[in-house]
Order: sequence, then structure tokens, then C-alpha cells
Amino acid sequence: MRLIEGMEKTKQYFSSKISQLESPIHIFTHIDSDGLSAGAILGKALFREKIPFQITILKQLEREEIEKIASWSDYTHNLLIFSDFGSGQFLELHEKLSNNIKDPNFIILDHHLPQGISDIEQVDLISKIRENTSPWHINPYFFGVNGSSEISGAGMCYLFAKCLNSQNIDLSSIAIVGATGDVQNQEKDKSFTGANLEILNDAISGRYIEIVHDLSFSSIKPLNEAIAYSTDFKLPGLTNDPNRTLKFLQTSGVLMENSDGTIKTLHDLNQDQKQKISTSILEYSTIKLGIEPSEVIDRLIVNKYVLPKESKYLELHDVREFSYLLNSTGRSDNGSIGIAVAMGDRKEAYDQAIEILKNYKSLISRSISWIYENNKIQSKDNIQYYFGEDKIPESVIGVIASILVFDNLDRIDTNKPIFGIATRETEQVYKISGRAHESLVERGVNLSEAIRKALELTGLNALGGGHPPAAGTKVPFDKIYEFLTHIDSVIREQIKENK
Ligand code: C5P
Ligand code: ZN
Repeated sequence: MRLIEGMEKTKQYFSSKISQLESPIHIFTHIDSDGLSAGAILGKALFREKIPFQITILKQLEREEIEKIASWSDYTHNLLIFSDFGSGQFLELHEKLSNNIKDPNFIILDHHLPQGISDIEQVDLISKIRENTSPWHINPYFFGVNGSSEISGAGMCYLFAKCLNSQNIDLSSIAIVGATGDVQNQEKDKSFTGANLEILNDAISGRYIEIVHDLSFSSIKPLNEAIAYSTDFKLPGLTNDPNRTLKFLQTSGVLMENSDGTIKTLHDLNQDQKQKISTSILEYSTIKLGIEPSEVIDRLIVNKYVLPKESKYLELHDVREFSYLLNSTGRSDNGSIGIAVAMGDRKEAYDQAIEILKNYKSLISRSISWIYENNKIQSKDNIQYYFGEDKIPESVIGVIASILVFDNLDRIDTNKPIFGIATRETEQVYKISGRAHESLVERGVNLSEAIRKALELTGLNALGGGHPPAAGTKVPFDKIYEFLTHIDSVIREQIKENK
């Protein structure tokens, strides 16, 4: 069966439930930009159907959260939707929230590996889960679609919304924002693949998204800053030094100042000026840094996904910046503002989101500097880890781990996965966020599986998992070193078995 056919069945299940509803549908969604995009898509789709709903944003669907939901919900007359999480907890959800095994009053629209599955090769087990949980639980792995690279939580919600009403095709752009947040545009030139590509085609044919071939730098930041702080394109000698970058840009023969004295952005440059700057960067990289020209061009000129209906000078014009903006609202406990923006608010919520974004960027850069300046990264034979102490809050511990592994390649050992460990303020536990570079995943590392195994070896029953390159859980204070010892040996075994 194809994913779309499966989704049609899930939609029918949904339709059969709404006639009996006595209270608004309660959507639970994840705090990151994919989760917020997912929530916004569902919200907009239900709004259009005039179905009342409310949205709750959670950092993670932990066991305690599920218990809390069970104690709130009158699930005989209510319908719950879990988006961008729920598959990794489907057994718990089923146990705690359904009084009828075949007919629970909730729907899971997720793309994470289902609970009990550590590897996409476990096809028989995956089919069994599909048979037992369809149509109230839908997950791309049921249909041979990779949830880590081919579709996001927002993508799953988009397919659902499209089944509900073809008018929702305009939400395809938000699905692409979500997929970008989950770094699914990993193909050459930052392209998408699989189901995401089909969603992108919807967005392009409706003119909700345009693909432009452009320099990979931010289009709205002053160009010297955009280059100096680019995470994709490192230029030793210029990276992290906007003043020097400005001097470098001036030598390319392009006037970099506007008449009011501000520095031009990529948007302010014409094709000829962009060409001059590309040539300078190409020369600098090949002659001074000795990098192969083809490699430079591959990273310099990429696909950018832009939303033509948004103002060119706003963050929301570029899918990637849009996604970053959403993430910043979620990570600052203001996810509802992000959802409002993704549902179309360009007034109050947008202004608030921009303010949040500014503060968030400052927190991230302070956190990274604190780690490096104080040598906070510790190492075992097969893993690296750092404690956030009282400096890095739980909400951004994973973001920092991602930046260290995916962006700061020159300063981190990408041969070992990294685990960020944040102190949770309300419980005696650490929140753990693991990240592995793709080269490690290719060598057999699967963090979702590693976390689940290490939890088991430590005798913990917390829920944990995610995707092979990114996974999380929580661990009581007094078990942390035991957990780290176990995960170190699990990672060693994963690499060894793959040899
Ligand atoms: O929390 P963190 O950002 O580290 O999570 C990484 C990935 O693992 C996310 O996709 C998250 O949804 C997933 N995860 C999970 N179950 C958990 C914790 C995280 O599926 N208990
Ligand atoms: Zn997601």
C-alpha cells in the first residue's frame, strides 16, 4: 500500500470520529520547527473545516506527559491528534488512552521510528505494527518511506490535510518549512527526495514555493555578516570575522554600502554583482585555501526555497530562515507564537517572533562560546559529551549538539557522536540529546537504537529514541555516568558490527 492510500484510511477514521465529538479536538505537537509546522498545518486545516481545536506544544511526549493527558482527557467524547511524535510512544499511548483496542480516540501522524523498531530493516516487525495500529497510527516506515530523510512530521500532516480538503495544497510550503527544520534537504544542492519531493512539487505548481539557484548565504543579513557567520560555507581567515569579510568583499569591485551607509544584502545585489562575488570567493578558496573548484561551487551555489508570497525582506521569504524563526519560538517556550506565524499571522505574532529570534540567537552564540572557552567537551573512547550545567537550558541542549556536529566540523571530532546533557529544573533528571555526523551513521551508528539499548542496560524505563543521527531521552542524576558508560560500549558495538 502507498502512503497516500494509508492516509486516506486515516482520514476516514478521523471523519468517523468527528461526528461524535463533544469538545474541541486536542492536538499535541512537538516543540521544534517541524512540530510547530505540523501543528500549524493541522490547525489551519481544521479551521477551514470549522472544526474547533486546541493545540498543546510539548518538548517531548514522555511517559509522564502521557499520564497527564490520560488524566485530563475525557477520551470517550474527545479526539486527540499527536503530530511529529507519538510513533515512538504508540504502545504507551494505546495502553493509557484507549478504552477500545481497535478504535482509540486519537490519531498519530508521525515520522519517527515506531516504538520497538531500531532499524528500518526490521520490515516484518514494522508490518506487524502497521497491521495492529492502522489506521489510527500512520507512519512513513509502514510504506517503505524513510521518515528520517524523505518526509517530516509536517509532511505527514500536510498529506493528511490534503486528503481532508484539496484546498489545503497551499499548506505544502509549511510542510517544506518543517522538513527543512528536520534537515531533510540533504541531497546535492540542498535538494529534497522521496515524498518531500512530491510535496515540493505541489508547492511549486501552486506557486507557493520557488526554487532559486543562488549563493548559499542568508539573503537578508548584511552580506559580510552572512558570509562570516555562514554555517554551510567556512572560509578560514574570513569566517567569524565580519570586518575582514567586508574588506574582502570590497576588493571584488562591488560597492557594498547602500546610500544610507548600511551594508548590502544578497537581495540588494544584481546578477552581475553576485557573479563578481562568487568569482572572488572561488579564487580565495581555490588559490588561498587549496580547495577543489568543483567542491567550492557545489557548496557556494545551492537551491534556495523561497516563498514568493512573502515580502522579500522578511525572514519568512526564505524557507530556511522561516524554519529557524519557528524553532526559536519553540525553544524559547513561545511555540504558540510560531504556530500563529505559520498559520499566517504577519502582525503581532510576527513582531513578537522577531524579538524572540534575536534573543534566541544570542543564547545560542553565548552557549557555544561557553563550551569552547571552558573546554566543556569531554570524551570517552567512542563518544563525546558535555553538561549544560546552569548555562545551557534543556530547550536548546539539542540545538547546540546539532550545531557542534553539523556546523562546527573543524572544531569537533566527527568520529564520535556527541551527547548534550542538560539539567532539568523540575525533576531530578538530565535531558540527553545525541547527535551523530552522517559519516558515522554510514559506519553503522544508530543513536535511536543506541539510546534505547543504553537505557535498558542501565535499567531505566524512560522513553527514548528518534532517528539514527539524532535521538534523545532523559536519565536520572545518579545514573548518568552508568548510562554514558553503556552508550559508549553500544556505539563501539554498532561500529564493530558494521565492519
Ligand atoms: O530532544 P532531541 O532534540 O535531542 O531529540 C532528537 C530527536 O529524537 C527528535 O526527533 C526527537 O523527537 C526524538 N526523540 C524521541 N524520543 C525521545 C526523545 C527524543 O523520539 N524520548
Ligand atoms: Zn520531525
